[in-house]
Amino acid sequence: MSALTELYDQIAQCKLCDISRHRTKAVPGEGPENAQIMFIGEAPGFNEDQQGRPFVGAAGQFLDKLLASIGLSRNTVYITNIIKTRPPENRDPLPLEIENCKRFLDCQLELLKPKIIVTLGRHSMARFFPGKIISKIHGTAQKRDGVIYFAMYHPAAALHQGGLRKELEADMVKLKVFIDEIEKPAPVLEKTKQLNLFEV
Ligand code: URA
Repeated sequence: MSALTELYDQIAQCKLCDISRHRTKAVPGEGPENAQIMFIGEAPGFNEDQQGRPFVGAAGQFLDKLLASIGLSRNTVYITNIIKTRPPENRDPLPLEIENCKRFLDCQLELLKPKIIVTLGRHSMARFFPGKIISKIHGTAQKRDGVIYFAMYHPAAALHQGGLRKELEADMVKLKVFIDEIEKPAPVLEKTKQLNLFEV
């Protein structure tokens, strides 16, 4: 069993928050263990709670479309949430729930070491861009310790406010520039320069 699947077991057994009593399935996250890009949403909704998988409802279908718009398939990225259990009536996660689940997200970050972290929505943004306002920083990136942090609106926001769809689509195009950057092969040094490296 990999460290990540062990973590999934711990998440499934966690009873730190009251909401654990009402869950059908915990939703730890999914994606390849060597994924370089991690998308972090807010909290599982009804469909996610039923299936134990993130972003499988209407917001997830829109996320899939956004990914496809820049040639990404969801099988190649890692997708998770700030909290791993559905809050009743899909309310916002409480500060204590976010705090209790922080240990799990921290472990996921440590195990996967993604090169790009994309925050989806306010709650996810607040963790990585503290004090910022989503309407001001969506579509922008910060690089810290070699990791690119990129803020986006939550896909569900576009389902409620049609105008945000265009913003999300445009931000995805901006994200692609950073993805291309990490996928660029390392420059190959010319032979003479390689030899020079070893000169004394
Ligand atoms: N919204 C989220 O933030 N996460 C999900 O997994 C589904 C909907």
